[in-house]
Amino acid sequence: MAFRYRCRACNGPNLKKVIDFGKMPLANGFLAEEEFESEKFYPLEFGFCVDCSMAQLINPIAPSVLFTENYPFVSSSSGRMVNHFDELVDSAIHESPKSSPRLLEIGCNDGAALERARAKGAMVLGIEPSGTAKIAKEKGIGVLEATFASLLAKSIRQTQGLWDIIIATNTLCHVHDLDDVLFGIKMLLAEGGVFIFEDPYLPDILRLTAYDQIYDEHKWYFSVTSVNRLLTRHGLKLVMVEPQTVHGGSMRYWVINEGEKRDDSVRQAIEQEQFIDLERLYEFKRETIVEIRNLQDSLDESLKRGRKIAGYGATSKSTVILNALERWLPIQYITDTTPQKQGRFSPGVHIPIVSPDKLREDDIGVVLMLAWNHFDEIIEKDPIFNERSRKLLFHSRRVAEWVTR
Ligand code: TMP
Ligand code: ZN
Repeated sequence: MAFRYRCRACNGPNLKKVIDFGKMPLANGFLAEEEFESEKFYPLEFGFCVDCSMAQLINPIAPSVLFTENYPFVSSSSGRMVNHFDELVDSAIHESPKSSPRLLEIGCNDGAALERARAKGAMVLGIEPSGTAKIAKEKGIGVLEATFASLLAKSIRQTQGLWDIIIATNTLCHVHDLDDVLFGIKMLLAEGGVFIFEDPYLPDILRLTAYDQIYDEHKWYFSVTSVNRLLTRHGLKLVMVEPQTVHGGSMRYWVINEGEKRDDSVRQAIEQEQFIDLERLYEFKRETIVEIRNLQDSLDESLKRGRKIAGYGATSKSTVILNALERWLPIQYITDTTPQKQGRFSPGVHIPIVSPDKLREDDIGVVLMLAWNHFDEIIEKDPIFNERSRKLLFHSRRVAEWVTR
C-alpha cells in the first residue's frame, strides 16, 4: 500500500504526492565560498489534497531554518512591486469606513506598503521576523521583529487593540502553521474590519507550467476553492477575489469576520477552478519534466555553438530551476540588483552572483531569464535586451509566451 500523507490544511488522510524534486538546497540560501562544504540539502515534495483541494509541500522545513537574519529579499528592489503595494494600500484604505484606519501588516519586509499607508493617514504596525525589519524601522515605522502567531496576536490585542485592516502579501503561502496564524488574524480583526491577502495562484502555476514556484518557502499553493474551504473552517468569510499579474499570477483575497453578502467573484472563480483535480496535477508533473529536459537541451545546444550563457535574477525560483537540471556548468554567472546577493553564490550549483552591469561588459550570447515575473520592468530599463544578437531563454514555454504577450 502506498504511504499516506495527512493534509496540513484539513487534516484529512488524502494528501497525494505529485512531484518529488529530490533533495534541494535552501531556495534563498545564497552563500559564500567558505560555506559550500557545510551547505545542507532537504527533500522537496509537492502534494495535492483531494479532499480540500489544497496544494502544499509535504514535510516542509521549519521556519527557524528558512527565515534567518540574512534573509536577502527586499520588496523595494522592484519599482513595479512598490507601485503594486501602493495600489493595494490605497484600495484597502478607500474601502474602509474610517478616515484613519488602524492597519497591521503581517510580513511587512522593508516597510514599502506601510510607508504608503502611513502617508495616507493610517495608523500602522508591521510584523517581520527577517533582518529586513531593520530597514522598515529606519523609516520610522513601528515593527515587531517576530514571527506572527496566535500568541503574538493575543499580546498585540491586549496591548494595542484591534485592527481595521490587516494585510499580508506573499506571506500566507510561507506560513508553517496556517491554522494558528488564521486563528491569530481572526482574534485581531475589528468589527467591520477586513483581512486582505495575496499569494501566487495555483491555476496560474498550472497554466504556465511555473514549476519554479515550488520551493521550500512556498508551503501552500492556494486556489479560491481551497482558500474558501480553509477560511470557512476558521469562521472567516471570503467576500471578494481579484486576480493580479504580479509574481507570475497571484490572487488577492478579501476576508471578513462575518456578515455582509458575498461578491460574485468568489462563486465565479470557484466555478472556473473545477478543472483542478489530481489528474490535472499529474499532467502538470509530466509537463514539468518535459520543460526541464527542454531547458537542458537548449543550454547544451548553446554551449555547443560556443555561445556564452548568463542567468538574469538570482531569485529563489531560480534555485529550483538550476538544481532540477542535470548539468548547469555552462552558466557563467547570474546577475542580480540586490547588493546583499552580489559576491555570493547560488544555492546548490554555486554559480557566482554579479551586478547586471557585468552583462553589458561581456559578450554573453544567451540570457536565461530567471526573474521572469519582473520581465516587463527589466526589459523596460535594460536596453541590452533589445539587441537582436542576444537570445533569451526561459525555463518554461508557457512562461515565455506569457511574459512576451
Ligand atoms: P522575486 O522573484 O522573489 O521578486 O526576486 C526577484 C529578484 O530579481 C531579486 O533578487 C532582485 C532581482 N531583480 C533584478 O536583478 N533586476 C530587476 O530589475 C528586478 C525587478 C529584480
Ligand atoms: Zn485537505
